[in-house]
Amino acid sequence: MTTGSLLAADLVIAVLAAAGWLGGGAASAARRRPLTLGLAAFALLATLARAITIIALARAGWWFAAEKVLIAAPLSLAAVGVAVPRLLRASGDIRSVAVPLLFAGYATSSALLVTILHGYPASAGVGLLAVAGVVAATAVSWRALGARPSRTVSRATLVVAVAALVTGTGLTVAPDGAPAVPHDHGYRDARTVGVGEPTRRFTLTAGTATVSVSGRDVAAWAFNAQVPGPELTATVGDVVEVTLRNRDIERGVTLHWHGYDVPNSQDGVPGVTQAAVLPGQEFVYRFRADQAGTYWYHTHSVSDVGVRMGLYGVLVVRPGPMTGLDVTVPVHTLGGRPLPAPRTERVEAGTPVRLRLINTDSTTHRYALAGTAFRVAAIDGFDLRGPTPLVDTAVLIPAGGRYDLVFDAPATPVALLVDERAVYSTGSVSTATGAWPVLDPLTYGVASPVPWSRFDRKFTLVLDRGLDLHELLPRYAHTVNGAADPDIPPQVVRLGDVVRFTIVNRSQTVHPWHLHGHHVLVLSRDGKPAAGSPLWLDSFDVRPGEVWEVAFRADNPGMWANHCHNLAHADAGMTLHLMYS
Ligand code: C2O
Ligand code: CU
Repeated sequence: MTTGSLLAADLVIAVLAAAGWLGGGAASAARRRPLTLGLAAFALLATLARAITIIALARAGWWFAAEKVLIAAPLSLAAVGVAVPRLLRASGDIRSVAVPLLFAGYATSSALLVTILHGYPASAGVGLLAVAGVVAATAVSWRALGARPSRTVSRATLVVAVAALVTGTGLTVAPDGAPAVPHDHGYRDARTVGVGEPTRRFTLTAGTATVSVSGRDVAAWAFNAQVPGPELTATVGDVVEVTLRNRDIERGVTLHWHGYDVPNSQDGVPGVTQAAVLPGQEFVYRFRADQAGTYWYHTHSVSDVGVRMGLYGVLVVRPGPMTGLDVTVPVHTLGGRPLPAPRTERVEAGTPVRLRLINTDSTTHRYALAGTAFRVAAIDGFDLRGPTPLVDTAVLIPAGGRYDLVFDAPATPVALLVDERAVYSTGSVSTATGAWPVLDPLTYGVASPVPWSRFDRKFTLVLDRGLDLHELLPRYAHTVNGAADPDIPPQVVRLGDVVRFTIVNRSQTVHPWHLHGHHVLVLSRDGKPAAGSPLWLDSFDVRPGEVWEVAFRADNPGMWANHCHNLAHADAGMTLHLMYS
């Protein structure tokens, strides 16, 4: 069983246990003896089963089990300890076990809520809050069922509840006051950044537009009235200058060069590296094109909405003059419909072809190239070492990620399918690709040793969901280490540090991780060292239950966003910052 399915099973079992005890309590209050005994037996089994999932999760990694071991397990133990002896002694009126069974129900529910609402890391405040809830609910049931809690019990309840409120909520509101990300600290646009005279100039004007997608008009936000925006191309050594204008996007726009490790002042993150460009304003970006490869650009102002509405485009930097056929395939979902429109062209046999696959959506896409053997030449703009030919193999590209596939055109047609839909072909191909195996980039190509043996800084990011009080409005945020943006403490590094991130996903959804300004080298996944070509990524899917170790050299000073590229998640809390001291 994978850790991801263990996490899901644990949740289901926890729900069953809580429901069983609560149902048993209700049945006994209604004097339904057989039903009470049946539900209690079921609940007991579920509670014991949860002990097994908790142990298994603790073995997979402490991050997956901390609050379960420290808070949920003691609560479940108390549930069993209180309910079972009373059940065994319940010979007369079955109603006499109602309060103990309800107590067990509250204890197991509270154990469940701690996992759903808080998660990692476990804290004393949260534990106390959980206990207070159980005590209070039990006291209320006790009263409602006619019995009276003694004065000592009532007083104790009050004390626990007050203490819990003070410590517990205090923790959710301010998890140790994160040093704030600087605002408006004299942002520089390209006119003040000396990288030389531009050799490639572009102007992108953002505005609302109506674009046609598979024959239907869709309201979009577009660069130069087209979705995707114009394809920007350059050759290594060029100085690229892009003037961004905002015609009428009320919520502001910026340009972020996804995967391009530009100087910090050109990175396009509003409130961090520049102010958002408002209607009527402009901003000039300038950077030297020193990395060849496939990249993309997109707005970073209300990025969840902005990118989804169409403010994105392709950036391709070539090492020299173009040879062969070079096709970019930026995949996107606009107004619920897939882009790009399918395209067919005739290609002469023997022509070298490079397909640049770009996923600009917020979720993973599956790509399959039928009709030819191919190699994955590059991922996220970095060439792979010793890629071998692949046949009938699909690739999964994370949100924000890019794969370059290369092959020599055969005499027979080839077709590229995205999620089973043909988007590019050289003729008609009828191959079912749905059952193809998926390439694991961690075992593809030829390995070379990791360039570092020690790490100056190590950070762990535990990804989850949790209750967050955002400006005192509760929200079910996407969290990192139990906190949500803007309360996640920044990661502070020094120029030259070798930094290691351990990224743990204990949630039920995929999180495509994306660090700005740096490519990270994949060290391992789930404890298994990467065995293929060195993988220098800027976007990678951390699936439920997975643990990734990646590293990079801190060589690009500034304040960098570090976030999930499911942009709805990023917006709902899953964003933090890497900061140079
Ligand atoms: Cu492609 Cu911070 O984003
Ligand atoms: Cu996410």
